[in-house]
Amino acid sequence: MKFNLTHRPRRIRKNSLIRSLFEESCLKLDHLVYPVFISDCTNVPEKIESMPEIFRWPANKIVSKIHEWKDLGLNSFALFPHIDQSKKCQLGKEALNPESLIYKICKEIKSSISDIVLIGDLALDPYTTHGHDGILGSKGQIDNDSTVDVLSRMSILAAEAGYDFVAPSDMMDGRIYAIRSRLDDHNFTETGIISYSAKFSSAYYGPFREAIGSSQCKPIDKSSYQLNPRNFREAKRELELDFEEGADILMVKPAEPYLDIINYASNNFNLPISAYQVSGEYSRLWASHLNGWLDLDSCALESLYSIKRAGADIIFTYFAERIASKI
Ligand code: PBG
Repeated sequence: MKFNLTHRPRRIRKNSLIRSLFEESCLKLDHLVYPVFISDCTNVPEKIESMPEIFRWPANKIVSKIHEWKDLGLNSFALFPHIDQSKKCQLGKEALNPESLIYKICKEIKSSISDIVLIGDLALDPYTTHGHDGILGSKGQIDNDSTVDVLSRMSILAAEAGYDFVAPSDMMDGRIYAIRSRLDDHNFTETGIISYSAKFSSAYYGPFREAIGSSQCKPIDKSSYQLNPRNFREAKRELELDFEEGADILMVKPAEPYLDIINYASNNFNLPISAYQVSGEYSRLWASHLNGWLDLDSCALESLYSIKRAGADIIFTYFAERIASKI
């Protein structure tokens, strides 16, 4: 039986070589950023219950670990601190201590490994007792402008420590302009800004909050600064503002639940677009895998391909190490 078909799209799916020939999105290790947790509370790698295969790394082990990751082909890392509870306070003052873990560790890594890209997250939540990304005002509200002032001071410490990029993950108004101006005033014109521009108030951040130890004070409601998951127009406005304020890279976060926003960003701004496949996106696949319900590596790759297809240039992903040998 033969139909007289004008179109037979299956011709370009006939065998694996032909399928590869017509592949439209590609994933390269060069385009992945591996988020790494560094802890000053431990001397051994510490498991994170809700994130299998991800650890909090002690300062004394991280340099050799990064050498191993580099041997796998990973070159870019975003560092997040997990600090001792005794160093936390209402104002997150440890964030402005030049001797703080996250600045010290950057110097140490950079002095031992030169061909590496380090991204320093700028936010107060690892440092505050309440777990918010900002300074609390007298009525318990997040004070925008004093938070922005602290973030821009942090950016100088991060630049001095050697970070290639600072990544403000807080969603305060006006912080990109403030950070860019302060960096330029201090002659850090080469330090770039990866802005968490469209960061949604998401339930998928749960495991990360366990990882950095900010979840003792849960539940934390960040919806007065992070975006409402129902809102597209508001996300567009945030992307536009960060573009105008001088961000070098615009980020959308989380990634897979927000492919429409990633696609919009990539079609509308002449800047590299980054997507952050967050902790909950990682853990949900792991949980299904541990139940025998889904194949972990195939699902991880499918998720990453969909984020690429939507238009992300770079992807922050906790799967980076695991899938390094598979792409
Ligand atoms: C906060 C911050 C968060 C993440 C990165 N930076 C969590 C939050 O906003 O509470 C989430 C990353 C993840 O879930 O993997 N500064």
